[in-house]
Amino acid sequence: MTETTESLDLSKLQDELDAINAQITKQGSTVRQLKKDGASVDVIDEAVKALQALKINAAGLAEKLLGSEPEFDRKAFDDLLIRKMFVVPSFEIHGGVKGLFDLGPPACGLKAAMIDLWRKHFVLAENMLEMECTCLTPEVVLKTSGHVDRFTDLMVRDTQTGECFRADKLLEDAIDDLLEKNPTMPLETREEHLRVQRQADAYSPEELDKLLLQYDCKAPSGEPYSSSFPFNLMFRTSIGPEGTAVGYLRPETAQGLFVNFRRLLDMNAQKMPFAAAQIGLGFRNEIAPRSGLLRVREFCMGEIEHFVDPNDKSHPNFPSVADKELVLFGRDDQLGSGKTKTIKIGEAVKAGLVNNETLGYFMARTQLYMEKIGMDPARLRFRQHLATEMAHYAADCWDLEIKSSYGWVECVGHADRACYDLDVHAKATKTPMVATMKYDTPKEMDVAKLKFDRKAMGMVYKKDARMVSSALEALAEDWKDFEPIATALEAEGKATVDGYEVTKDMVTWEKTTKKVHEVKFTPSVIEPSFGMGRILYSLLEHSFYQRDMDEQRNVMRFNARVAPQKCAVLPISSSTECNSVVDEIASSLMDIDMATRVDKSSAALGRRYARADEIGVPFAVTVDFDTLRDDSVTIRERDSMIQVRLPKKEVPNVIYDIVHGRLTWDDVTKKYPVVQVDEGEGASTQAASAPPGAKTVVEATSRGRFSRPAPAK
Ligand code: ATP
Ligand code: GLY
Repeated sequence: MTETTESLDLSKLQDELDAINAQITKQGSTVRQLKKDGASVDVIDEAVKALQALKINAAGLAEKLLGSEPEFDRKAFDDLLIRKMFVVPSFEIHGGVKGLFDLGPPACGLKAAMIDLWRKHFVLAENMLEMECTCLTPEVVLKTSGHVDRFTDLMVRDTQTGECFRADKLLEDAIDDLLEKNPTMPLETREEHLRVQRQADAYSPEELDKLLLQYDCKAPSGEPYSSSFPFNLMFRTSIGPEGTAVGYLRPETAQGLFVNFRRLLDMNAQKMPFAAAQIGLGFRNEIAPRSGLLRVREFCMGEIEHFVDPNDKSHPNFPSVADKELVLFGRDDQLGSGKTKTIKIGEAVKAGLVNNETLGYFMARTQLYMEKIGMDPARLRFRQHLATEMAHYAADCWDLEIKSSYGWVECVGHADRACYDLDVHAKATKTPMVATMKYDTPKEMDVAKLKFDRKAMGMVYKKDARMVSSALEALAEDWKDFEPIATALEAEGKATVDGYEVTKDMVTWEKTTKKVHEVKFTPSVIEPSFGMGRILYSLLEHSFYQRDMDEQRNVMRFNARVAPQKCAVLPISSSTECNSVVDEIASSLMDIDMATRVDKSSAALGRRYARADEIGVPFAVTVDFDTLRDDSVTIRERDSMIQVRLPKKEVPNVIYDIVHGRLTWDDVTKKYPVVQVDEGEGASTQAASAPPGAKTVVEATSRGRFSRPAPAK
C-alpha cells in the first residue's frame, strides 16, 4: 500500500469513527430523555442496548485506527539521522550537553530551503517588514514584557537526588503509562484521563501536586516528588565588563519587533495594518529537555507580528483562503467529545470558533506552508488554547500541532495577543505606541473638553503630571471612554486613570461634539510563532520511509523544492570519458543553483542510488555508455524509481523546472521514453568493465539494468 492510500484509509476510518461518536452522543441524550420522561423499562433497556452496541463498535474502530497507523522504525530513523549527519549531539566528544544539537550538512540544506520558502510564503508575499534583532536583551525589556516574572514552568525535584523534572510532563507520562497498561479501560474513563492530560500545562502548582499524588507519580529514588514550584526558563548573563547590567538571551524574537514598533510604522508610511517578521534564535533553559530536537535549549524561530486595528481584525486577503479546510480541535471539543472537526476556515470564523479573520488567515497560510514543504496533511491539526492556558490579555490562540512518533506536538503558535505588548512597552518607556487612522469623511464625535489645574496636578505628580494629563486627554477623545471617569469624579471625587489617582480639583470637563478627522489607537497584535527546529524534525519524520528491496532501504521523500540536494550525478564506469560528462552535467546544474551530489565511488550503482535516497535527493542522473555515443542520459526519480532517457543538455532545465513547480515528474514520464529498471538483487552491479564503444545498452537480464529493447546498431 502506498503512503497516500494508507492515509486515505486512515481518514476514512476516522470519519467512520467520528460518525459513530456523533450517534453515541445522540443516543446518550435519547436514553437520558427517556428516563426523564418515565418511559417503560423495556423501552429504556432497548435504547441502552443500542447505545452499548454503538460504543462497542466505536471501541473496535478506535483500536483499528490505532493499529493501522503507519509503522515507524525509530531505531532505523535515529540511526539514519546520526549516520548521515542530519543531527549531531553538540560537543559530542566532550560528552555532549542535554538539549543542544548541531545540524549537519543535509539538515542545514533542508533548513535553509524551509526558511527560504518561509520568507517567500510570508515575508515577500505580504510585504512584511523583516528585521534581525539582537539575541542579547537587557533585563528592563524582559521585565516589561513579563518574562522575568512569569516565563516559568513548574518544576519538581527528586528529594533524594536533587534531580529536576517538569511537573506537567510527569503527569502526561503517568497518564500515558496508565492508558497503555489498561487497554480495555472503558472509553469514557479513558477520555476523562485524556482530558486531564490535555490540560497538564494549565494547572496551578497546588492542582498539579494533587494530581501527581493521585496518579501515583514517584521520583526515580522511589520517594514522592517535592511540591512543584516555578522555574524561570531564561538564560541570565551580564552585559559589559562591570558585570552589573543584567541581560538575558532572548526566549523569543518577538520583543525586538515590539520595541521597534514606532520605526516600523514610519517605515510603512504610518499605514495600518502591517506585519513585521523575524527569523532567529531563541533560548530557553528547558528543565528536562528530551524528545530529541523537539525540546531543545537553543532553537530557530520564525515570528510574525501583524499589527491591526483592535476594532477591525478583518484581513484583505482572507477570501483567498476562506475555502481552505483545516482540522480544528476547539476548546469545547477538547473538554467534550475529544474529536476534531474538519472545517473551512471561512466557516470557522463566521461561526465564531476562530476569533477573527486575521487569526484565521494566518492559520490557513500556515497550513499551506506546511503542505508546501511536504508535511503530511493527515498529521496536522490546530488546537485551541483552553481558557486556563491563555494569557489574560489574549483574545484567542490556536497551536498548529504536528503528529510524530512523540505524539501531537505544538510547532506553531497563533495568538491574538490584543494590545498587551505595545501597551506595556509604552507605559514602561513613556513612549506612545499608537497608530493613527484617517477617516475618509470627518466624523462628528461626542468628546470631553478638558481643563487642567496644572498646579494641583503638579503638587501631587511632579514630573509625571504630563503623563497623567496625556492619559486623560486620550480618554477625552471619545466621550464613551471618558464618561466612567466623569461619573466617578462626580460621585466620589476621584478616579483612577492608568494607575494614577486623579482628584476632582485637578480637572474640569465639558461634554461637546467635535469633527474628528482621525483616530489614534494602540494596535492589537496577531502573532504566528514558528518553531523551525520542531518543524524540521517533524518533516524528517514525515519524510522517512523504508522499502523492501533485497534489504530494507531507508528513503527520505523530501519534495524537490526543499530537498537539500536536487540531483545526484553518477557515472556508470570510472572511465575518464564518463567522469568528464558527469562533471559537465554537475556544473551545468550548479550554475543554475541546483545543489548537486556527484558520486564517482566504485560502489555498485544501486548502492549509490540508495545512498542518495537516504538523504532525500529526488533525482539521479546516470551517465552510461549510451551517453558517450548519443549524448543521452537517464534520470531516475527517487520514490517511483522510474527512469526516463533524455538528451543530457535538457537535464538542467528539467530539474530546474520541477524544483520550481513548473513541471511534474508525471509530465517528464510522458515527454521522454521510460526505461524499465530492476533495482533488485544484483542490479546494483555496475557494468564498469564494458569497454567504450562496446554494447551500448545493458540488456534486460536478472543482473541487467535496462530492460528496454536495444536500439539498432
Ligand atoms: P511548549 O509548551 O512545547 O514548551 P511553548 O508553548 O512554550 O511550547 P511558545 O512559547 O509558543 O511555545 O513558542 C513558540 C514556538 O517555539 C513553539 O510553537 C515551538 O515550535 C517552539 N519552541 C518552544 N520551545 C521550544 C523548545 N524548547 N525547543 C524547540 N522549539 C521550541
Ligand atoms: N512569541 C512566542 C512566545 O514565546 O510566546
